[in-house]
Amino acid sequence: MIVCHCRNITDHDIHAAIDWMRAADADTLITPGKVYRALGSAADCGGCLPLFLETMRKNPNLEVPMPLRNLRGATQEKHNERR
Ligand code: FES
Repeated sequence: MIVCHCRNITDHDIHAAIDWMRAADADTLITPGKVYRALGSAADCGGCLPLFLETMRKNPNLEVPMPLRNLRGATQEKHNERR
């Protein structure tokens, strides 16, 4: 199924890019911009973004790596300790 009509990107392309990025770097954050770049492209009109994100969320490799979770909470905790 075509997800991005401007760039002719399919759901298969998106899943392949996510799987490749996760295999290349287990700790990377995967964003729509990174998926576009991995596919040698960039968003144009942005109209596909809701469906693009929905497609990304279906991929189990999209999960935020454990060491990068709750960074905001950890940062605020350190900030509060300094006070
Ligand atoms: S439909 Fe994807 S950028 Fe326009």
